[in-house]
Amino acid sequence: MKKSAPAHFSIDTLLAERWSPRAFEDRSIEPARLRQLFEAARWAASSYNDQPWFYIVASRDNPAEFQKMLDCLVEFNQAWAKAAPVLAISVARTKFKHDGSVNRHAQHDVGAASASLALQAQSLGLAVHQMAGFDPQRARDTYHIPADHEPMAAMAIGYPGDPAALPDKLREREMSPRSRRPISEFVFAGDWGSVAPFVKHT
Ligand SMILES: Cc1cc2nc3c(=O)[nH]c(=O)nc-3n(C[C@H](O)[C@H](O)[C@H](O)COP(=O)(O)O)c2cc1C
Repeated sequence: MKKSAPAHFSIDTLLAERWSPRAFEDRSIEPARLRQLFEAARWAASSYNDQPWFYIVASRDNPAEFQKMLDCLVEFNQAWAKAAPVLAISVARTKFKHDGSVNRHAQHDVGAASASLALQAQSLGLAVHQMAGFDPQRARDTYHIPADHEPMAAMAIGYPGDPAALPDKLREREMSPRSRRPISEFVFAGDWGSVAPFVKHT
């Protein structure tokens, strides 16, 4: 299913067509494609080129490992994410490698890497659905994530599937149009809340 953004101003097709499905095809992801996703994450920009991103990945091809990660998700997410062929958890290293000081942008940079990953997925016909709904402490304990590293977001990755496979409520959400605040609400100039002139004039 396609769910193109009804953008006010034209944006790249890849950006417009990326969305977060909850229905996935029953189809594994080829390892070569998985490598491409993480290669895309690899080339994200980061403060001091510190590359503070890490990903723990679990494939349904290894049921025990998959279940281990599924168990880290909240129940609501488990219900649909169990159908995805691959789950992952992103992790941020919160201190700089070069001097051990706090990296205030670590989470920002992991988000950027994950955004690249999601767009690469889109270009390969895959989809990524990120999730805040997981237990970071459980992930830390399960995977022995070191101190100074913060579990950030879980994600379900797969080929988008038929929404008919979802329970009623989720199917409704799957079919509902995508919506966003207009750029006039978040692009300012001169003072907080003062809409940038180029936004007003468009
Ligand atoms: C960091 C993050 C956390 C999210 N957490 C959840 C979640 O726990 N469960 C869920 O169903 N969707 C989750 N989402 C998906 C968002 O609800 C979704 O991205 C948003 O509604 C916009 O829809 P779109 O991605 O299809 O454009 C999350 C997305 C992000 C980026």
